[in-house]
Amino acid sequence: MKGIIFRGLEALVIEKCGMAAWDNLLSKNAPDGRVYISAQSYPDEELVGLAQDVATALDMTMPQVLKAFGEYLFSHLQRHHPVIVEGFDSFAELIMGIDEVIHIEVAKLYQEPNLPSIRCEHKQAGKIVMHYHSKRQLCMCAEGLIYGAAAHYGINVSLNHKACMHDGCDECVIEVNYGAVNE
Ligand code: HEM
Ligand code: ZN
Repeated sequence: MKGIIFRGLEALVIEKCGMAAWDNLLSKNAPDGRVYISAQSYPDEELVGLAQDVATALDMTMPQVLKAFGEYLFSHLQRHHPVIVEGFDSFAELIMGIDEVIHIEVAKLYQEPNLPSIRCEHKQAGKIVMHYHSKRQLCMCAEGLIYGAAAHYGINVSLNHKACMHDGCDECVIEVNYGAVNE
């Protein structure tokens, strides 16, 4: 996983729990002197270990932490890559563009990124069905990112995780229902 993702978790933990808490988590889960550099890759297990400890510290489940993290991560990614996000006029356009626009741009900017495969079907206004596949099985993180994107466009979203790799399915199927606030 790229350092930019770890930096997102670092910023979230420091904001919520303070610097000492982050130093503590880091010394437990990473080699001495670890400093995450956005464009470099680090072992996935390190991120999982950190997230698991955040879950324990905050008395949350791992899916709850990944979801909260994903939501925060969207604004973190947007801050670092504003031009990519500004290219989309609406929530639906952005979601439909994740695989073929956003992550393609990411693959140009980062060497050998580990990206999921995401295929979206725009069923009708207000409804997108997302198919997610990745050997990292970070579908809860994808959910969080979708909530983060909805917050960015100021709209309401509700998700229905209809099939999940964690239950042995080949891919996750996430139904995304969205609409204007107060609709
Ligand atoms: C990785 C989904 C938007 C850049 C990931 C991962 C997921 C994901 C689930 C974790 C890796 C995996 O599952 O295998 C999404 C979704 C998005 C979104 C659902 C929108 C709702 C963005 C945006 C950017 C971005 C806007 C940047 C402008 C990245 C980067 C990685 C990543 C840099 C890490 C790659 C690596 O570690 O090698 N994305 N993404 N994503 N995404 Fe996205
Ligand atoms: Zn899933």
